[in-house]
Amino acid sequence: MTDNVLVTDENRVRTIRMNRPEKKNAITRAMYSAMAEALETANADVVRVVVLAGAPGAFSAGNDMMDFMEAPPHIGGGDMPPVERFMRALVGCEKPVIAAVDGLAVGIGTTLLLHCDLAYATKRSMFTTPFVNLALAPEFGSSQILPGIVGRVVATELLLLGEKWDAETAAAKLLINKTLPEDDFETAVMEIAARIAGLAPGAVQAAKKLINTPAEDLFARIEREGEIFAGQLRSDEFKEAATAFMERRAPDFSRFG
Ligand code: COA
Repeated sequence: MTDNVLVTDENRVRTIRMNRPEKKNAITRAMYSAMAEALETANADVVRVVVLAGAPGAFSAGNDMMDFMEAPPHIGGGDMPPVERFMRALVGCEKPVIAAVDGLAVGIGTTLLLHCDLAYATKRSMFTTPFVNLALAPEFGSSQILPGIVGRVVATELLLLGEKWDAETAAAKLLINKTLPEDDFETAVMEIAARIAGLAPGAVQAAKKLINTPAEDLFARIEREGEIFAGQLRSDEFKEAATAFMERRAPDFSRFG
C-alpha cells in the first residue's frame, strides 16, 4: 500500500494518479506495484478505460534514483521487479489506457507513453529519456517502438542524445496525440475517456487488440479481422447498434461488459 498512487473509479473510467509531487512523481517500487495492481484488476473489473495521470507540472520524473541504486531492477532476469510487473500490466491491459501528461515526463515517464493507446499533454509538458546521459540504455521496447513511430534518426535524438522535446514537438512527432489547454486539461481528457466508455466494450477491446497485433501477412490480417468482425456482427452489442440505427436513436451500450 502507498499513498503515492491514487486509484479512483467513476463511470467506468479508472484513474491511476501518481501522487508524489514533492519528488516530481519519481516512481518508487511501491508505486509501480500499486499501479500494476490497478491495471491488472482493470481487465476483470467493469472498468472500460484507464486514465494514467500525474501531479500538476509533474507527470513523472522517472524511476526513483535511490530505488535504482538500492535495488537495481533486472528486467527479464528472474524475480520480476515491480517496474517490470507494472510495464507488463500496461502492455497487457485489455482496456484502452489514456495518458494525461501535465509537465515533466522523464525516463519511464516518457517510455510508458509508447504503451498507452492515447496520450494528451499540456503545452508546458516536456519529454525526455536521458538514459544514455545517465550511463543507462533504452528500456521496455522503446528502442523498437519509437523508431517505428518517429523514424530511426529522430528516435536517436531522444534515446541516445537525451534531447528534451516540448509538447508541440512531441505532438508533431506523434509521440503524443495532441496538446490540450492547461485550463480544464483533465476535464478534456476525461471527456475523451467518457466517449470511449460509452462505446461497445467488446468492439473497443477488439480494436485495441488488432491495432497492437504485430505486422503480419496482409491476408492473415484480413482473416484475423474477419473472424472478429463476424463475431461482432453476431453480438448483442451490434444488435443494439443496429436497432438504435433503425429506431433513429443513440445506441446504449451501458448493459454490456
Ligand atoms: N528520483 C528521485 N528523486 C527525484 C527524482 C528522481 N528521478 N527526480 C526528482 N527528484 C527529487 C529531487 O531529488 C528533489 O528532492 P529534494 O527536494 O528532496 O531535494 C525533488 O524531487 C524535486 O526535484 P528538483 O530537482 O528540485 O526539481 P526541478 O524542477 O529543479 O527538476 C527534474 C526536476 C525532474 C528535471 C530533476 O529533478 C531531474 O533531472 N531529476 C532526475 C530525472 C531523471 O534523470 N530521471 C530518469 C531516471 S532513469
